[in-house]
Amino acid sequence: MILIKNGRLVTAEKSFEADILIEGEQIKAIGPNLDAPGAQVIDASGLLVMPGGIDPHTHLDLPMFDTVSSDDHYTGHKAAAFGGTTTVMDFVVQPDDGPLAQGVAEWHAMADPKAAIDFSFHMNITRFDAEVAAEIPRLLDLGIPTLKVFTAYNGRLRLQDGEIFQVMQIAKEHGMLVMLHAENGDVIDVLVEEALAAGHTEPVWHARTRPAWGAVEAVLRASALAAQAGAPLYVVHLNTAGGAEMVHYARQHGAPVMGETCPAYLFFSEDDLARPDGAKWICSPPMRSEADQQGLWHALTNNEIQTIGTDHCPFFYDGTKPILYEGKPVAIPGKELGKDDFTKIPNGLPGVGDRLPILWTYGVGKGRLTENQFVAYTSTNAAKIFGLYPQKGALEVGSDADIVLWDPNRKLTYGLAHSHHRTDYNLFEGWELTGFPQKVFLRGKLIVDGEEWLGKAGEGRFLPRKPGAAVI
Ligand code: URP
Ligand code: ZN
Ligand code: ZN
Repeated sequence: MILIKNGRLVTAEKSFEADILIEGEQIKAIGPNLDAPGAQVIDASGLLVMPGGIDPHTHLDLPMFDTVSSDDHYTGHKAAAFGGTTTVMDFVVQPDDGPLAQGVAEWHAMADPKAAIDFSFHMNITRFDAEVAAEIPRLLDLGIPTLKVFTAYNGRLRLQDGEIFQVMQIAKEHGMLVMLHAENGDVIDVLVEEALAAGHTEPVWHARTRPAWGAVEAVLRASALAAQAGAPLYVVHLNTAGGAEMVHYARQHGAPVMGETCPAYLFFSEDDLARPDGAKWICSPPMRSEADQQGLWHALTNNEIQTIGTDHCPFFYDGTKPILYEGKPVAIPGKELGKDDFTKIPNGLPGVGDRLPILWTYGVGKGRLTENQFVAYTSTNAAKIFGLYPQKGALEVGSDADIVLWDPNRKLTYGLAHSHHRTDYNLFEGWELTGFPQKVFLRGKLIVDGEEWLGKAGEGRFLPRKPGAAVI
């Protein structure tokens, strides 16, 4: 048994002083002045006690453009844990011609032996026919009630609107949730062709060929499809103020639509892609303008969108030069693959470990979020939307003891040294932080203690999820 004493508990609903008793993997008791003879006592005076973060959006070991995202299901989990996150949800790639279950088996083969925190899967639906339609409900037997569809990446991942509508109808019938990548694939194709023909190969053209309006209209279009299907929709990685406004609009008109944004869209803009090292900021959808950042913050402050994930999908900036990871040299081809052509730069960013520390200082610390909203956006809301609540995302008797002891006064200059991502750069390098995780527990086991890593590959557990989760 572990007794955490004298801390201040921060949940999505309230903050209060209490002790927490952990027995085995779960929270056994919460209250003032708890006593548990024989328990190991941890003094949390001056610390905040929060549920472990839940990142509903990662891409570990994701093949892309002749390479693979540079964090696997161990290194990404470890980085997540150091940043206070104890559950991640990754997207299974649909096999080109095999059944969905084959993709799920492939993801388990990669993740199960390496997992160091708890994890779950969403299924990408990027090819749709009668066979796929029949197979989608069988994903429930595999513990996967969530499906991601794309309105971009023509010829690769995109479904047509009619196909998305059919996926939504199936989702409605079986209590599943459709997740959406919102951009306009047709417009992007035209603009990319024009840009390349005009000799524009620099990273900033990635953003210039993926206009904000395409994201805004795709959010509204998919919201309208969801409303017509009567199915819930979760829009991933909202990058525009307009996209967040469309989610809000849909919700105000009774459509069961929810939205996620990511830290990158709150802090960076197209101008960052125009830097000499702009490839570091390339992800899809791209970062936009300061007005978009403000609009997304406005939506968060006013509870108009529901989660902050990361879309963690890191690549090396220069994958020809090894870094030392756990004492061994590692180099994985990365952004340099597109040094002469922005369309060949692998899309994606590191972020799973940055999320909580950056949002604490620049969200809560700057008065944009309350500490309870911070917990809601980084943990509790995802647990509810994705069917893990109150096992995860809660400090309640019977919940998994996924607990972060947060030092709100710790000051540090953040960067690669703290983030533990297996890559060679960090977008927040040199940012000043106040507040950082001090200890992280996964199901009652201490896995991060200050700078020390106590977690292990294989100790993370797959979380099968049920249909019918809440629309919040
Ligand atoms: O650039 C990104 N985000 N890569 C990952 C795939 C996706 O669309 O989420
Ligand atoms: Zn996406
Ligand atoms: Zn993604």
